[in-house]
Amino acid sequence: MEEEHEELHAELAKAIKMRGKVGEAAKKVAEVLHPHFQKENGIALPVIGVARELAEGKTSPDFPKALELHDKFKAEYEKMLQEHVEIVRTLDALGKVAETYKKKDVLEFVRKLKNHAITEEDLTYPAVLMAGKLLKQT
Ligand SMILES: [Fe+2]
Ligand SMILES: [Fe+2]
Repeated sequence: MEEEHEELHAELAKAIKMRGKVGEAAKKVAEVLHPHFQKENGIALPVIGVARELAEGKTSPDFPKALELHDKFKAEYEKMLQEHVEIVRTLDALGKVAETYKKKDVLEFVRKLKNHAITEEDLTYPAVLMAGKLLKQT
C-alpha cells in the first residue's frame, strides 16, 4: 500500500508539472492528498502490517505498537473518511480539466486514486478497525 501511495504520488507530481489549468487542479489535489497519505502511512499501514499474524492467531512484538496506532486511527477515522470526500471533490475538478485538455494519463490517475480511496474504505480501514478489536483480545 505504501508503494501504491508512492506511485500515485509520482503520477500526481507529473500532473502538477503540466502548465495551466491541469497543473493548477492537480496542485489542489496534492494539498489535500499529501497530509492524508502521511496519516495513512503513519497510523493505518503499520496496523495492516500485523493483520496476518493476528488473523492466524500468532503473536508479534509489533502488537503493542499496532494497538497504540489503531487507537490513534480510530480517533481519526471519521475525519479520514471526510478527507476522502474532499479528495474526490478535487479529483472531480481535475478530471474535468483533464477531459477538456485531453490528458489521458491524468484521467487515468483520477480513476486510480478514486479506486484507491474506495478500496481503503471497504477493506483497509475496516481491517485496521478489526485488527484493533483482535489486539484488545490478545
Ligand atoms: Fe491512501
Ligand atoms: Fe485514503
